[in-house]
Amino acid sequence: MFFLFPGSCLGMQDHEAPPRSIKKMKTKFKIRRFDPQKDQAPRFQEYELEVPQGATLLDCVNLIKWTQDGTLSYRMSCRSAICGSCAMKVNGHARLACKTQAKDVIKNNLVVLEPLGNMTVIKDLAVDLEPFWEKVEKVMPWLVNDEEVSPGVERLQSPEDFHKIDAASTCIMCASCFSDCCSEEVDKEYLGPTALAKAQRFVCDSRDKKQFERISKLSKEKGIWDCTHCGECSQRCPTDAKPLERIVELRNVALNSGVLNNNGARHAKAFVDSIAKSGRLNENELPVKSMGFFNIKGLLEILPVGIRMLIRGKNPPLIHHSIEDMDQVKKIFREFGEPK
Ligand code: SF4
Ligand code: SF4
Ligand code: FES
Repeated sequence: MFFLFPGSCLGMQDHEAPPRSIKKMKTKFKIRRFDPQKDQAPRFQEYELEVPQGATLLDCVNLIKWTQDGTLSYRMSCRSAICGSCAMKVNGHARLACKTQAKDVIKNNLVVLEPLGNMTVIKDLAVDLEPFWEKVEKVMPWLVNDEEVSPGVERLQSPEDFHKIDAASTCIMCASCFSDCCSEEVDKEYLGPTALAKAQRFVCDSRDKKQFERISKLSKEKGIWDCTHCGECSQRCPTDAKPLERIVELRNVALNSGVLNNNGARHAKAFVDSIAKSGRLNENELPVKSMGFFNIKGLLEILPVGIRMLIRGKNPPLIHHSIEDMDQVKKIFREFGEPK
């Protein structure tokens, strides 16, 4: 007889019946199954499980595999939220299975499990992580510093400097953020939240000597300015790495380092200038200023969108209706100083 034993390394013991105090909850698990070598298309398979009190989601998946269906495939290793391998979609959103209490995700006695998004399925809940790792590699996730140090001497860093990279250092490479990123979904060339969080860890490392090269590269298309701020990555992140916050920090580094010759930086500046000047956002000016007045090719590219908006009556009004308390907005800008 199996039961979960929270302290055991495998989440199961093969001795007697569970203690009386352990309650169980009858739950249906709908798991997306797909074996590309055999199946034409993915399908959902249902399993019923008496979920013991205190069980994590990974404990449940293990019980299903060990007691009901040995063909179910998924990844796991540490069972301690360290290795990052057990991420999967739970009721539509990525989560670490070993860090999720089953009771927190069981809704109406049902849990739906699917593989992570934005990657190809290898089998069932196991996905091909190659594109994910390729993107991380693109940001040079290692310290670059050619200065000689004597053997046995460490490159020291103050606690304050370490604090700047502490959050990003907690990333366990679980790919939950990557799975649920909407920019990644529409543009497979986008660097993605994990790589950008990792990039912040090195851009802001006081010991690294490539900050300007790094931030210049990250400011190009498909980098920091292609994030839509949806916040999904930070919501899904099981650690303090919180990619959106790291992307915002990278944008600040880019602006403060004078890396301004790109659509994203121009867009941010045009946005701030417009509100500082008038208290409102001039959406008619914004696309032109973001592209750059002399970027003829870029302006021609957005022209069809502008024409379509005009035909469908979606373009912003040329003269805005008045907005109550608009002076307050200008006052906020004055308080924080004029934008540079
Ligand atoms: S905030 Fe940006 S990086 Fe994060 S999920 Fe949304 S689009 Fe992706
Ligand atoms: S940033 Fe967070 S969600 Fe993304 S891979 Fe790292 S730990 Fe996972
Ligand atoms: S099994 Fe290692 S993070 Fe879940």
